[in-house]
Amino acid sequence: MHNSVKYILLLFLASLSLVSCKQKQGNKIKVGFSQAMTTDDWRKQMNSSIKIEASLRPEVELKISDANNNIAKQIEDIETFISNKVDVIIVSPIQSKPLTAVVEKSIKAGIPVLVVDRKIEGENYTAYLGADNIEIGRITARYIISNSKGSGKIIEITGANGSSPAYERSLGFDQIINENKHFKVENTIHGDWEGESVKVPLKAILSKNSDIEYIFAHNDRMALSAWETAKTLGLEKKIKFIGVDGLNTVNGGIELVKSGILDGTILYPTGGNEALKLALKMYNKEPISKNNILNTIVIDQNNAEIIENQMDKVDQQQVVIESQQGAIKVQEREYASQNNLVRLLSFFLVIILSLTIYSIYSTISISRKKKQLERINQTVIDQNNEIQEMAQIAQRSNEAKLNFFTGLSHEFKTPITLIMSYVESLIENEKIKGTTLIDEVKLIHKNSNRLLRLINQLLDFRKIEEQKFTLRASNTKIYDFTNEVMTNFKGEAARRNIDFQLICKNKNLELFIDRGLMDKVYFNLLSNAFKFTPDNGKISILISENQDNTVRISFKDSGIGIPENELSNVFNPFFKASNNNKNSSGIGLHLSKEFVLLHQGTIELKSKQGTEFIITVLKGNIHLQPSEIVNKAENLNRTPNLILDNLDIGTDLNPDIVISESEKHTLLVIEDNIDLVTFLRAKLSSEYVVYTSDGSDAIEKTMEIIPDIIICDINLVDKDGYEISKELKKDLRSSHIPIIILTAQSDKESTLKGLQSGVDQYLTKPFSLSILKQSISSLLFNREKLRYYYTNNIYRVEPESKFGNQEQSFITKMNDIINRNVENPKFSVEDLADKLGVSRVQLYRKVKAIIGINISDHINNVKLEKAAELLKSNNMNISEIAYSLGFSSPNYFSTAFKNKFGISPKEYKSST
Ligand code: FRU
Repeated sequence: MHNSVKYILLLFLASLSLVSCKQKQGNKIKVGFSQAMTTDDWRKQMNSSIKIEASLRPEVELKISDANNNIAKQIEDIETFISNKVDVIIVSPIQSKPLTAVVEKSIKAGIPVLVVDRKIEGENYTAYLGADNIEIGRITARYIISNSKGSGKIIEITGANGSSPAYERSLGFDQIINENKHFKVENTIHGDWEGESVKVPLKAILSKNSDIEYIFAHNDRMALSAWETAKTLGLEKKIKFIGVDGLNTVNGGIELVKSGILDGTILYPTGGNEALKLALKMYNKEPISKNNILNTIVIDQNNAEIIENQMDKVDQQQVVIESQQGAIKVQEREYASQNNLVRLLSFFLVIILSLTIYSIYSTISISRKKKQLERINQTVIDQNNEIQEMAQIAQRSNEAKLNFFTGLSHEFKTPITLIMSYVESLIENEKIKGTTLIDEVKLIHKNSNRLLRLINQLLDFRKIEEQKFTLRASNTKIYDFTNEVMTNFKGEAARRNIDFQLICKNKNLELFIDRGLMDKVYFNLLSNAFKFTPDNGKISILISENQDNTVRISFKDSGIGIPENELSNVFNPFFKASNNNKNSSGIGLHLSKEFVLLHQGTIELKSKQGTEFIITVLKGNIHLQPSEIVNKAENLNRTPNLILDNLDIGTDLNPDIVISESEKHTLLVIEDNIDLVTFLRAKLSSEYVVYTSDGSDAIEKTMEIIPDIIICDINLVDKDGYEISKELKKDLRSSHIPIIILTAQSDKESTLKGLQSGVDQYLTKPFSLSILKQSISSLLFNREKLRYYYTNNIYRVEPESKFGNQEQSFITKMNDIINRNVENPKFSVEDLADKLGVSRVQLYRKVKAIIGINISDHINNVKLEKAAELLKSNNMNISEIAYSLGFSSPNYFSTAFKNKFGISPKEYKSST
C-alpha cells in the first residue's frame, strides 16, 4: 500500500475512535441490587432513594432486580449478577437462610455483597446496612411502658417468619416487656408483613379478650390492618396501636399517627441512598464497618408534625434534586449530542487537516517530482538538441562528403570525356588502325567507358537518395530495345562462347519505359550476368506476357548464383554476396530496383542454378502520372556510345578539309579546364576561329570579339555559366550570339536553369564531339536562316511584328533611325551607333551577324529602297531624289541603284 494512503487511513481510524469512545461503557461501576419485592411503599421508597443516589453518580450503572417475594427468583437474580460480573451486589433478602449460600457464592467470586434491611445467616457478607431491629423492639417496649395507663396487655403482630427484622424486633421487644411485670404480651400473631395476614387472627383474639391496651405490629401496614380489625369490633379507641416504618406517604406511618389511628410508629429508614454510598466505598476498597446501623426514632403525636415537615422538605429537596437530575440529564444529552457533534467536527477537522497536510505534502512532492521531471526533461531536451546538432553536423558532414563525391564525380566526367575523345581519335587514326596497338586503345576506351558508367551510377545513387528522378516514360518496342542493349554485350558473349539469347514471342510488344533508366537496369543486370557466368555458359533474356496485363522480363544466367540466405539483401545498397570475390560497388542492383520501382514495377530474384532476375512491369500507361509520360523523341538520355558516334562522323575529323580563315566563323570557348580547352581547340580550329576565355573575362572578351557562337561551361571561377549567358543575352550587343552550355551537371533543374538563362543548347559531359559539332553547325545554320529572313524582309519589319525578339527590335529600331535620317546627307554610321548605344565596331559586327552585310551597305540599301519609293511617286526627278537622299552625285546614285535592282532609276521610273 502506498505510504500516504496508509497515513490517511491511520488518521481516519484515529478520528473514528475519537468519536466512538463516548459510546464505551466499560469504565462504569456496575451495581446489582436484588430487591426482595416492590409491593409496598417502603420498598418503593427504598428503590427510589437508591436510584436517586445512583443518578448523582454518572460512573454508576445500577441494575435493580425485583424478586417478587420469590426466594428462588431472588437466588437466580443474584446468580445472574455474579455471572455478569457486577462490581458490587446489594441484596435485601426475603428470608435469611435460603439466601445465605448465594451471598457466600458471590463473596467467593470476588464480588463484595452489601446486605440491607433483612439479614442472612452467619457473617459471610461484606457489610450490613439497616436500622437496629432489636433496638426497634426495645424502643417500642420502652415507649409502651412509659406511656401506659391501662392493663398493660399487649398483642404483638410479627413480620414474616424467617426474616431477621421479625425475629429481632420480637427479641428486643420481649426483652424489655419481660422485665416489667405489669406488661405482658398476651397474644402473638405471626403475620407476613402484609395487612391481610392480621385480620382473621386478631379478630378472633379481640373477640375473646377486649382488655388489650396496646397492639404492636412490626410494620405500619399490619398496624393499620389491626386498627381496622379493632374498629370492626368498636375497640379502635380503646386500644393503642404502634407500628414500624414511619413512612411519610399516604396511609404511611406519619399520616396514621397524625390522624390518631396509630399511637406511634418507629422510624425504619429504607437506607437506599446510604446503601449505594456504602457499596461504592466497598468497590473502592475504602475502610468501612461491617455493621452500619441507621438511626431510628419514635414518631408520635408530639413529633409527627415536625418529622413530617422535615421529611416533606427532604422530599421537596428530593424533587428539586430529581428535577435538577432531569435537567442535568437533558444537559447531559445535549452535552452528549454536542460532544458527538464536536467529535464529528473534530473527526472532519482531522480528516480535513489530514487531507490538507496530504495535499500540501502531495503538492510539495508533486512540485519536487515536477522539478525532477523538468530537470530530466531538460536533460532529455538538451541531449536531444545535442543529438540533433550532432545529427545536423553529421548530416552536414555527410552532405559535404556526398557533395564532395558528387562534385568529384562530376569533375571526373571532363577528364574521362577527354580521354575517351582522344581514344576515339586514336581508334580512328589511320596510323594505328592497322597495328596491334588498336586492341590496347580499344581496351583503354572500354575501361574508360566502364569508369564513366560507374561514375554515373554514383551520381544516380545520389539522385535517387534525393528523390530527384522523374520518370520520362515513352512507348517502346521492348524487343527492339532489348536487342539494342544486348548489342553491347554480343562481342563479349562471342569471345567467351556464352550462349546469349533473347526469347520474345511478340516482337511488337510495347511498354511505357524510361529508356535511359531501363537501359541502366538492363546494363546492370547483364553486366552482373556476364561477370558471374563462366565461359561457355548461358545468359538469356525471356520476355513474356502475363495474364494480368503485366509483362515479365527475366534475365537468367548459369553463373555462380547467390546464397539463399542473402537473397533478400541483394537490392540493399552496398550489398556484396559472400561468394562474390570480384570488385563491386554494390549499388548497381539497388539502383536497378529503384528504377524499376519508378516504373511502378517489381524486381525479384531467384537463385537456384545460376541467377534469375525477374522484372514485372504493367502494360499501358494508366499506372503512370501524366508528367511521367513523354514523346519518344524526348526519351533519349542514354549515355551516347562514343565509339559509334565518332565512327559516324569520321569524315568530320578529317583534317584534310581546310576552310580558309576568312570564311571561318568565330567561336568563343568559355571554359577553365585547360585540357578541355586544348581538346576543343584541337578539334574545332579547322572549322572555326577559336577564341578562349577561362571565364574571368568572358563578358569583355565577347564584347570585344562578338563571336558567331559561344561554348560555355557552368562551373567557372567568377561568374557561373548561367550568369554569363544571362548577361550576354540581355545585352543588345551580344544578344544574337548562340550559346551552347557544356557542363557535367546533367540533372533536370540545371538544364532548366540553363535554358531559362536564354542559352540555345544544353549539352552534358561527357559529350559526344560529333553532337557538339553538329550543335554548333545547326545553331549557325539557324542563325543563317534568320539572317536570310531579316535580309529579305528588312524593310517590311514592323515594330508590332510577331517576330519581335531582341534582334527583331534591334533591327526595327535601327531601321527607324535610318529612315528618319534617310534624307540627311550628313547622317553617318557613327551617328547611328551612338543612337543605338553601341560602338561602331559592335554595330558593324552585330549587323553583319544578323543580316550578313555591313552597316554602310545596309544604310545605302535603305536609301535605295526609299529612292525606289520616291521614283514611283513621280513627284521628284532623279537628280532631286539622289541629292535628297545624300548621294554625292546622280551618277553614283544611278550605279548603286542599278547594282541593287538590276535596272537604272530611269528605267525603273518609266516602268511604273
Ligand atoms: C416492607 C417491610 C417493612 C418492614 C420491613 C422488614 O416490606 O415489611 O414494613 O419494616 O419490611 O423487613
